[in-house]
Parts: sequence; structure tokens; C-alpha cells
Amino acid sequence: MRAVDRVFEALDAHLDPDRSWLVGSPWFEPPDQLRRAISDAACGSRYNYPPPQGLAELRTAVTELHDREELSLDSAQVVITHGAKSGLLAVLGALLQPGDEILHPLPCYPAYPAVAATLGATPVGVPREDGYSGWEPRTLAAAVTSRTRALVLSSPANPDGATLDSDQAQVLVGFCREQGLRLVCDEAYEAFRYAPDTDRLPAHWDPDLEVVVQVRSFSKTYALCGWRTGYIATDSPLIQRVTAWQSALLNPPNLLAQLALVAAPTVPRSFSVEARDRIRRRLEELVAVLVDAGLETMMPEGGFYVWTDVRPQLGATGHSDTAAWCADLARRYGIGLWPGEDYHAPGWVRVSAVACSDADWERALERLGEGLRSFTNGGKVQ
Ligand SMILES: Cc1ncc(COP(=O)(O)O)c(C=O)c1O
Repeated sequence: MRAVDRVFEALDAHLDPDRSWLVGSPWFEPPDQLRRAISDAACGSRYNYPPPQGLAELRTAVTELHDREELSLDSAQVVITHGAKSGLLAVLGALLQPGDEILHPLPCYPAYPAVAATLGATPVGVPREDGYSGWEPRTLAAAVTSRTRALVLSSPANPDGATLDSDQAQVLVGFCREQGLRLVCDEAYEAFRYAPDTDRLPAHWDPDLEVVVQVRSFSKTYALCGWRTGYIATDSPLIQRVTAWQSALLNPPNLLAQLALVAAPTVPRSFSVEARDRIRRRLEELVAVLVDAGLETMMPEGGFYVWTDVRPQLGATGHSDTAAWCADLARRYGIGLWPGEDYHAPGWVRVSAVACSDADWERALERLGEGLRSFTNGGKVQ
């Protein structure tokens, strides 16, 4: 059971619970070009399994998108996946044998240790504070063994928004090359980078993708979480192995979504710029409300979430763990926040800025501030 399931359970008791701080599914509409394209695809006459590596037209479209980022890619270096999470499963499935190890940051997206453990490998968390700035090769090298195969991270990161700057990206690529590891970069939030000097990704320092594996998603970029489509870009020998792994276990991703996403290069760049700016504005407003309610909170460097240390609040309300604190906040005020235990970071909570509709946003912020103030000023729970 995840810690957040206690929060969902507590929210169920409310007539009007606010779940919108929990999920990372954007509230805005996907681009018109893609909505039209999926409707055309549905009225077309293609019904069969797509090819195992994904539609050739979509892989070509992906290379066009990468050209715009000054990343030169051949369509043989791309496999279409059922989203980034499933892409992680496929790539780690292709890379790992039982008994192998991966390194990952702590806190991190829970799928990294979960997928590694499911595959019989050992996830080794390397603590990280203050973004990626303290994550030195010296610290990482101390965790490497003869069984370590990959370093897996997200940038921008879930839950804390940590985003590699250009120098950090270069250093990590060099480290992985030297140690013979693959650098698996989960770039689900690449379109949502707010910090300066984050233009150059690890892939820019490894143009042939012999070290770097880019795990990408259409879920967040185009507000298409439900289409379950993403892709992996890396060197073609590994792409062949990932394709074989995915094909054997999952079959290729949804044909209609693939056909529609061929139109992705026709989506104007302004779509992504506006989406990023709207989310950045929401995050700023959310940070201000949390700070006002007495929570020590910083603007994230990227992504969708505010990551907040609530250890002082746990003391004030007399809760022993964050899951209990979040469940109590949910039970008493109908507000759902994600407990840090699920990210291997007890004492912290994740607050999503993207799920609430525009119509409800102002009111939800007010309710959040009022609820947190009453909860944390209310003294110890009996
Ligand atoms: C870091 C990270 N990677 C991957 C995913 C999953 O993406 P997808 O919808 O493409 O499977 C998420 C979803 O929240 C995420 O936060």
C-alpha cells in the first residue's frame, strides 16, 4: 500500500474533497492539431498492430522534434513506448539481469527502485539535497560496484523539480562513460524547465547516445497523459533490445495515438512556451500560499510540483509520520497532499500545481492556505 492511499481513503469521507494537489495530469487542453489528428485516425482504416519499434512516420517526427533541440537523431535510434513509465520498464528490462544494480537519487520517482526490484535488480539510492548541485561524482563513485549497470534519474525531477544545469549534465555523462554505466534520463518534464543554464541536456554531451538513454513522454508536454505514449532515444543496438523486450511483454503502443502524434511537429512552439509559463505562474502562486501558511518552501527549478519540508509541522501537530499528517489533513480539511514516504523522503510532502481547473484555482488556493493554517495552528492532535 502506498502512503498516499491513506490520503485518498481520508478524502473519500468528504463531500467536496480537493484531490487536485495530488495528481500530475495537466488541466489544460491538448493541442488542436493532435486532437484533430486522433479523430482523423479513428475514422481511417488502420486497425492492426503497429510495428514493434513504432510507426516509422512517428519515429521520423521524433527526429524532427529533436532537430529543434539541436539533437541529431536517426529514426533507428527511437522506439515508441507506452509512455515514460513503461519506457523505463522496457529499458531497464533490456539492460538489467537479476543481481545487477542501479543508482538513483533520493528522493526520486518511485518507479525507479520499484522497476529495478521487480526485475530482480537492486536499487541503490544516493541521497541528494539542494537539487543536483551536491551530487558529486565522488559520492556516486562510492556507491558503484561491479554489478552497477545504470544511473537512473529525472530532470526536471519528480518530486522536487531538481533540474540538471549544463555543467552537471556534462559531468554526469563523463562519470557514466568512465564507469561504463548507462545514464538513463527520464525527461518526462523536459518542456517545463524554469532555471537558467538548463538548455543543454545530457544528450547534448553524448551526441551518439552511446551512454545516454533519453526516456521521453507525450503525457506532460502535450497534456496527453491518457494517450499512454512516449519514446526512448538511444543508440540503435540498445533500441533493438528494448524493442524486443517491449514486444515480447507488452506489444507496441496504441496505433491511434501513434498516428495522431505524427502531427506533433505541426504543433506551434507557442503551445509549449505558454504551457510552461502558465505552470510556472501557478507554482509561484502556490509557493506564496505555502510560505504564508508557515511552510518552508522554494520555487522548483522545473516540473509540476512544489516539494515542501513539513518536519516542523509534524512536531507542532504531534504526528509521528508524514503519511499520518497528510491523512489527518485530508480527513479534517478535505485537502489531499502527497506524503514523502512514497518518495523515500519522510518529512516532506509533494503538492501538484497542475491538476486544478482554472475556474477552481483561486478558491482552491484559498482553501489550501486556510486549511493548512488551521491545521498547523490547532495544536497537537489528541
Ligand atoms: C518523473 C516521471 N517519469 C515518468 C512519469 C510517467 O510518465 P508517462 O505518463 O509517460 O508514463 C511520470 C508521471 O508522473 C513522472 O513523474
